[in-house]
Amino acid sequence: MTQTSQPGPVPSAADLSAAGFPGPIERPRRLRSGAAMRSLVREHTLRPADLVLPMFVREGASENRPIGSMPGVVQHTMDSLVRAAIEAVERGVGGVMLFGVPERKDAVGSGATDPEGILNLALARLRSELGDATVIMADLCLDEFTDHGHCGVLDGAGRVDNDATLMRYREMALAQAEAGAHLLGPSGMMDGQIAAIRDALDAAGHLDVALYAYTAKYASSFYGPFREAVDSSLQGDRRSYQQDPANGREALRELALDVAEGADLVMVKPGLPYLDVLKEVAQASPVPVGAYQVSGEYAMIEAASANGWIDRDRTVLESLLAFRRAGASTVLTYYASEVAGWYRDGLPAHLREFL
Ligand code: PBG
Repeated sequence: MTQTSQPGPVPSAADLSAAGFPGPIERPRRLRSGAAMRSLVREHTLRPADLVLPMFVREGASENRPIGSMPGVVQHTMDSLVRAAIEAVERGVGGVMLFGVPERKDAVGSGATDPEGILNLALARLRSELGDATVIMADLCLDEFTDHGHCGVLDGAGRVDNDATLMRYREMALAQAEAGAHLLGPSGMMDGQIAAIRDALDAAGHLDVALYAYTAKYASSFYGPFREAVDSSLQGDRRSYQQDPANGREALRELALDVAEGADLVMVKPGLPYLDVLKEVAQASPVPVGAYQVSGEYAMIEAASANGWIDRDRTVLESLLAFRRAGASTVLTYYASEVAGWYRDGLPAHLREFL
């Protein structure tokens, strides 16, 4: 078993025809034969503007706080948020998606609708600094602001109350629109949330504030590091409102509902484990489709790279290209600013093939 046999002579092409086989009829390798040929026939590419940077801002922080499970990602202070957002925009990212980490939480998530709440203050600050130079997006969900950590308010029995939550989302949408957000990302998976929010925005005259629906959002373990990122107080899980990872079909039902309710863009989340869902949604959707490469996906790439098990930069670009291939127009990724910088500065030699 362990004895290795003596290598024979390397066979030549002539040996194959001598063996009576004329050789392959089709030779797909011809199009892979050199970098120029590969570049010519490349189907999908990345642009910085395809990438959206999710960012965390912490109330009352005097310095950035690293997030242990997401090396390189921090909870920003207001000032560092502004600096990092300006840098990302200068590098050409398509937008930024803001998440707030409040100092105090309560049962109804009051901080979410308070104009002085951290998320609304940060939106206002970014809008005043950046104007319309980028698309400023806001996570529209109560989970960062509730003491029980759920995405909505609870009924007497402790269950997430769908319709009572819609009332809170309407108020939250108005607070975010008034603070200056261009695009709101309702991520709570409540039934009817897009219609409820659209109606509230329109009634208040915010006709141009767009909705990026988290259409197919799965109850996923890949959100683990995010829960640390936002100091989540969640006990239990979100399986009564987020989708079952075993199901594909209901993503198309959610898509139909969100589009009918007025979604301007739709999203599939998490990313790589759900590329099949992304592809189906992208094929069926009349509106642009995005994917969210979530915290656990980021953490896995970082952990494997830190161990020297994968080539970090190439893995990052390969994963982002996979979203484009599956049909995503935009990708939310914690790598957005860094990758946009690579493209702006000209890709380093080991990444050129991703041009
Ligand atoms: C909910 C929300 C979550 C994420 C984005 N919005 C967490 C959850 O649903 O539990 C996860 C993002 C990530 O993991 O990167 N507001």
